[in-house]
Amino acid sequence: MKIALLGTGRIGRLHARLLTATPGVDELLIADVLPERAGEAAAEVGGRAVPTIEAALDEAEAVVIAAATTAHADLIRASADRGLPTFCEKPLAEDIGATIEVAHHIARTGIPFQLGFQRRFDAGYAEAHRLIASGELGTLYNFHLAGHDPEPPHEGYIPQSGGLFRDFSIHDFDIIRWMTGREVVEVYADGDVRGFPMFAKYNDVDTAVATLRMDDGSLGVLTVARHDPLGYDIRAELFGSKDSISVGLGPRTPIRSVEPGVPPQAGPAWPHFLDRFGAAYSAEFGAFLRVARGDEPSPCTEHDGVQALRIAEAATQSLHEHRPVRVEEIANS
Ligand SMILES: NC(=O)c1ccc[n+]([C@@H]2O[C@H](COP(=O)([O-])OP(=O)(O)OC[C@H]3O[C@@H](n4cnc5c(N)ncnc54)[C@H](O)[C@@H]3O)[C@@H](O)[C@H]2O)c1
Repeated sequence: MKIALLGTGRIGRLHARLLTATPGVDELLIADVLPERAGEAAAEVGGRAVPTIEAALDEAEAVVIAAATTAHADLIRASADRGLPTFCEKPLAEDIGATIEVAHHIARTGIPFQLGFQRRFDAGYAEAHRLIASGELGTLYNFHLAGHDPEPPHEGYIPQSGGLFRDFSIHDFDIIRWMTGREVVEVYADGDVRGFPMFAKYNDVDTAVATLRMDDGSLGVLTVARHDPLGYDIRAELFGSKDSISVGLGPRTPIRSVEPGVPPQAGPAWPHFLDRFGAAYSAEFGAFLRVARGDEPSPCTEHDGVQALRIAEAATQSLHEHRPVRVEEIANS
């Protein structure tokens, strides 16, 4: 299959490498609004740089969008209007109105569509999902979700990101829905700028917390930070009536125990999301090829994108208004 990759920034470069190694990808066409970036990525991985987005779409049999968030909705529409199976990095769009509109557009055109929540393809999160679904965890009492980036993104990324909850925690909002099969009904969030004043310029924060109430009454806490000097720390802990489990805790977790007698970490800490989720991104593209061929339904749909963003919107409102926000306050259609 001939795939067009649109956008070759931080993650687009990784996706270029992974896509050329994905069985079933015969040719990778690479385009970016900055054509020199597409050229560099193509030279790096052996794809073919295409001078414009239009030209890439005209030739492609399926499309992978890894461009800046603000470009997602237009690129999805352009791809859907050609009837092309489309994968798009999270989120669908930068705000809830545009997200709902583009989700309707995808549904109207009926294209196979997959959104990039790669944690669904991570072995640890998948095992947590299985333990909850099978009943082996028992009644879920509460949970802790943790997301800590090693370094903040470049400043140009911040105004295009939608803010910390929409950009980063949206993965946690998706994965808690997916792991538990339940919906978040209420969010109470707080945050501050603790390390990087550039976030304040864009009315954003670099450190935040949120409590989440699920529709079955289970309760969770999310902690987020844009900087972690030890590495990339993404974890979940879930406590049930029959078991307590941890996702992301292992020899490469960037956290150290200060208990006497506990040995130091065995391996180097995860430096970056590209390493921590490398296997998950590969599995995600394997799935997309099957979705694009029509062999299986999408494992992560535009509906999932809308629901995760509604929670992120509720968290963002809660942060700015200093009150608990019900997710039902956020538009759904
Ligand atoms: N799933 C994940 O783990 C994950 C991780 C990082 C980023 N992302 C998402 O991936 C997207 C890109 O993030 P990034 O960190 O690579 O950003 P980035 O700023 O490094 O790169 C964005 C790229 O998009 C290009 N671009 C902008 N508008 C375009 C358009 N209309 N058509 C084609 N290319 C265009 C830019 O020139 C740039 O090369 C964001 O939406 C982000 O939310 C997902």
